[in-house]
Amino acid sequence: MNDFESTFTLFELRNIAKSLLFKFSDCNIWLLHGQMGAGKTTFIKEVCLLLGVKDTVSSPTFSIVNEYVGIDNQTIYHFDFYRIKHESEALDIGVDEYFESKSFCLVEWPSKIPSLLPKSVLNITLEIIDNQTRFIHCKIR
Ligand SMILES: Nc1ncnc2c1ncn2[C@@H]1O[C@H](COP(=O)(O)OP(=O)(O)OP(=O)(O)O)[C@@H](O)[C@H]1O
Ligand SMILES: [Mg+2]
Repeated sequence: MNDFESTFTLFELRNIAKSLLFKFSDCNIWLLHGQMGAGKTTFIKEVCLLLGVKDTVSSPTFSIVNEYVGIDNQTIYHFDFYRIKHESEALDIGVDEYFESKSFCLVEWPSKIPSLLPKSVLNITLEIIDNQTRFIHCKIR
């Protein structure tokens, strides 16, 4: 019921993202797990596109979080914790306030902030099958 899994190519990504937005609309915090190049940013780009984001979606380079505006002026936060060395850096930007804001939060490298993650999240794991193919599985926790 609360699970989803599929293999997909880039061509099919849009439909996967649509399905997840439909199925997991109750959950505003989506954690993206998976190794470098697994497709976390690519997946987030597609989700943002579907949410009507017009800004360029790319991993935050000089900060930890990017803020986008979607349809109906809804705020979407895109985090990438890859480069942080200590969880305190996430606390410094007020990560808990972002999570509590009820805004949609898409998080790359959540494994860097294990003790700061909220209780109720959607865990999305991406695995590389081959150059074009990924396996995705999702679980509400
Ligand atoms: N089915 C697929 N889904 C997602 N990406 C795919 C797929 N097939 C190929 N790719 C390619 O894999 C790469 C994924 O890169 P992406 O930056 O999204 O990874 P990432 O998980 O965000 O990595 P990082 O941990 O470095 O941020 C892109 O070049 C993308 O075009
Ligand atoms: Mg990325």
